Amino acid sequence: MDGMGTLARLAGEEAPVSHILGFGGYVPERVMTNDDWAALVDTSDEWITARTGIKERRIAADDETTLTMSANAARLALEDAGLGPQDLDEIIVATDTPEVYTPDTASFLQHDLGAREVPAYDLGGSGCAGFVQAVDVARARIAMGAERVLVVGVELISRLINKTDRATAVLFGDAAGAVVMGRSGGRAQVLDVVAGTDGSKAEILTLLTGGSRHPFTMEAARTGAHQDLVMDGRRVFKEAVHRMSAAVEDVVARVGRTVDDISLIVPHQANKRIIDAVGARLGVDDERVYVNVDRYGNTGSASVPLALWEAVRRDRVSDGDLVVLTAFGAGFHWAAAAVQF
Ligand code: ACO
Repeated sequence: MDGMGTLARLAGEEAPVSHILGFGGYVPERVMTNDDWAALVDTSDEWITARTGIKERRIAADDETTLTMSANAARLALEDAGLGPQDLDEIIVATDTPEVYTPDTASFLQHDLGAREVPAYDLGGSGCAGFVQAVDVARARIAMGAERVLVVGVELISRLINKTDRATAVLFGDAAGAVVMGRSGGRAQVLDVVAGTDGSKAEILTLLTGGSRHPFTMEAARTGAHQDLVMDGRRVFKEAVHRMSAAVEDVVARVGRTVDDISLIVPHQANKRIIDAVGARLGVDDERVYVNVDRYGNTGSASVPLALWEAVRRDRVSDGDLVVLTAFGAGFHWAAAAVQF
């Protein structure tokens, strides 16, 4: 498989092992069902369920923002790790729906948590692959000397997409997930990560208005173009299945294991049919694939850490298990991480 831009490969050395010290997650209280959507746009519970497996999703309250959701997940991850914000050496936030345009969400989060004046930055624009990419960056930073890195995946999508576009709006939900990574300790080790990008497919999933190519204008405000997610659903579907399956195979091979050794795959939760197709392509039965897309929809960068946090809390993971995280996102990006519990 092409495009394996990892530190270990560049150095021609063994991948540096980093550890996951704590897990956290957050979902807003408000539940929006498929029937709630059907009351707003021309859709139905049957259509959404059959095409996506989604039954409901969470919607942020008016007083919630990307920052408040990030902070909730981050505090739980720190608590789980038995650490405080002062223990952090770095903060990375993966999101496509930041607190404000500038500065990044991580700046607000550093202050909100009461962390020291450590490097804090967003990994933005990678769609739903952002969190696993950020885990890859975190392990590189740990190899360079950072002791403890907070990695957050967060999305408050409901406020930023076109609510009248049934083809995209019904797919998404709001959430945050987080891990604290470190040099040693904790329950799990990140053995290796593979990641790649095929920018020739940028147009299959894109929000065009608001950047330098198409700056935000009064006309955009009038037509709502700044909220229009352009998505070629079928091509995204195909790419997602191909890239996530290949990334899983690749990352387990890199750590000297096979797909049969995987105890649990935690895939990006975009669509149950995509998840099923990845399982089928890999020859992995349903019990070894974690699914919560029915309850939360596609929560973008939050989806993998949220599912991981839930899987750990629900005892779907035991010590000794090999867990593989895999994600794809706008870009087109993909990534997979092999995590040994
Ligand atoms: N309710 C009812 N009908 C709908 C809805 C809806 N919510 N949305 C679209 N339709 C209609 C369309 O208008 C179209 O109608 P037409 O045939 O009359 O033109 C028809 O349904 C589309 O049908 P299909 O193309 O057969 O739908 P498909 O089976 O491809 O499912 C879907 C569409 C769910 C979007 C699918 O392609 C998919 O999941 N693709 C991947 C999308 C995805 O994962 N995006 C990720 C977003 S971001 C990320 O995770 C990185």
